[in-house]
Amino acid sequence: MMQSLQQKASEWSGVQIADAFAIDKDQTNLFQKLGLQAFINLSTNFYNRVYDDEEEWFRSIFANSEKEKAIQNQYEFFIQRMGGPPLYSQRRGHPALIARHRPFRVTHEAAERWIHHMQQALDTTSDIDDDSKIKMMNFFRHTAYFVVAGVELKDKNQHPCKDAPGKDHACKNF
Ligand code: HEM
Repeated sequence: MMQSLQQKASEWSGVQIADAFAIDKDQTNLFQKLGLQAFINLSTNFYNRVYDDEEEWFRSIFANSEKEKAIQNQYEFFIQRMGGPPLYSQRRGHPALIARHRPFRVTHEAAERWIHHMQQALDTTSDIDDDSKIKMMNFFRHTAYFVVAGVELKDKNQHPCKDAPGKDHACKNF
């Protein structure tokens, strides 16, 4: 399932799997290269844009989340995913990106808007060099569509057992 979600994510995002995971290559440790503050700046910059978005439909997806918490969740995840200490999992547990995004309307349009804000945030965070930006953006773009594909799949699979008592455990793995 993971494999086909990644293929779908590549198709939809236009990012090859190898490019999406260039952040994991030997010699590439973006946390060591950029440092803690760059990640804090990036996520602050990103969420400032999101919470100020003139597109109400997108801004409202975040209406029940506190901005400061959202910033911390995001930079701790990025740090852990890009070679730094496991700050996110120590505090929140497994990232489980698909499950955690399930409550939100994560459509293709929402993915594009998320990517748009992240591109702008990267472009205006001065302590991130161009090569790192490209690697990060490929990972973000691919992951955005991975989340869209995963949430879609779960919603589809949930359907048959939705109102069937005793069938709950059958849906737990999705
Ligand atoms: C596709 C469009 C996306 C939408 C609409 C979206 C929306 C959201 C929302 C509404 C939250 C809750 C804010 C909070 O309280 O933390 C959230 C959390 C989060 N998102 Fe996304 N997101 C998207 C893509 C992504 C991508 C591409 C990544 C990773 C590269 C990501 C990583 C996270 C993480 C780590 C959290 C914190 C989860 C938690 O600890 O509860 N998201 N997202």
